[in-house]
Amino acid sequence: MKILGIETSCDETAAAVVSDERTGGTPAILSNIVLSQLDDHRPFGGVVPEIAARAHLEHLDAIVARAIEEAGLGLDALDGIAATGGPGLIGGVLVGTMTAKAIAAARNLPYVAINHLEGHALTARLTDDVPFPYLLLLVSGGHCQLLAVRGLGSYELLGTTIDDAVGEAFDKTAKLLGLGFPGGPAVETAARTGDPARFALPRPLRGRPGCDFSFSGLKTAVRQAAVDLGDDLSEQDVADLAASFQAAVCDVIADRSRRALDAFLEITDGSAPVLVAAGGVAANGALRETLTSLCEATGTRLVVPPPALCTDNAAMVAWAGLERLRAGERSGLDFRPRPRWPLAEAAAAE
Ligand code: KG4
Ligand code: ZN
Repeated sequence: MKILGIETSCDETAAAVVSDERTGGTPAILSNIVLSQLDDHRPFGGVVPEIAARAHLEHLDAIVARAIEEAGLGLDALDGIAATGGPGLIGGVLVGTMTAKAIAAARNLPYVAINHLEGHALTARLTDDVPFPYLLLLVSGGHCQLLAVRGLGSYELLGTTIDDAVGEAFDKTAKLLGLGFPGGPAVETAARTGDPARFALPRPLRGRPGCDFSFSGLKTAVRQAAVDLGDDLSEQDVADLAASFQAAVCDVIADRSRRALDAFLEITDGSAPVLVAAGGVAANGALRETLTSLCEATGTRLVVPPPALCTDNAAMVAWAGLERLRAGERSGLDFRPRPRWPLAEAAAAE
């Protein structure tokens, strides 16, 4: 099967073609085009929904055409079309959904609406052929969750954030430190020359029962530490704060993931566990090292897709579409885009 995927739920306009004809063991990504709107949003210090929707509308046709061309195919060679149907900024999701439906209707191709989070969740099956079940750590700008992925459409939530998402905490910390937007990569770069032990920041919920996360107290502690330093933060102050923040985040995620692994082992039959990290924050090198240590200590196989497939892209949407279409599912052309769509309900994508 060759499936076209479309992703427009935030500030990346993306289209990709994937195929399940295996070359070298894993399915093939025939093309993967991502147009970032960062420059459009940077002056505002964050993603502006109306600007995002207009930019998707302006660029998506050309991005889809490029994805098909780079795959070396014509529309006739496709077996189906998948587009993110939510959750996300509704203007962008509408643009992607209408484009996918239009191509599907004109070419008489099956169409399937994909939950964006399911796209992140299944990426490891595209990149590393990971079998079900596995434990998923989903860390992105809008989400911070631990889920048991039992099968296609079967996701059990073990823990989630009770306030900010972890990517959001990175973005807000970056803003506070004057590191600009997007925050995650900026904090990671600044942290490289910083001392992670200089500031004793809190580790919210560490050691507590359950697998939930909390980041708003940590963000407040960073702000307080910055205020205590006075008006003019030196470059070293900023680097030390960034490193201390990142270390706190890694500690918390390690603690919560270890608990989730325990819970996951009870759910499965005790066979060797697999931990998959996904979402934009999984591109963070310090977090990757933390998870590597955790998995070495617990006899767990760690799978982290390459950074370009951790941040938003359409290959993950095409792949999730391929898995669903291959299972005989499809969505009606009356599918309504969903601004909110919990992953645990992704099975109900009628
Ligand atoms: O998955 P994603 O591309 O979009 C969402 O669905 O949210 O994740 C974007 C988030 C942003 O908050 C961004 O700051 C964060 O991922 N991020 C990072 C890194 N790269 C992206 N956070 C920490 N370190 C990074 N290297
Ligand atoms: Zn995402």
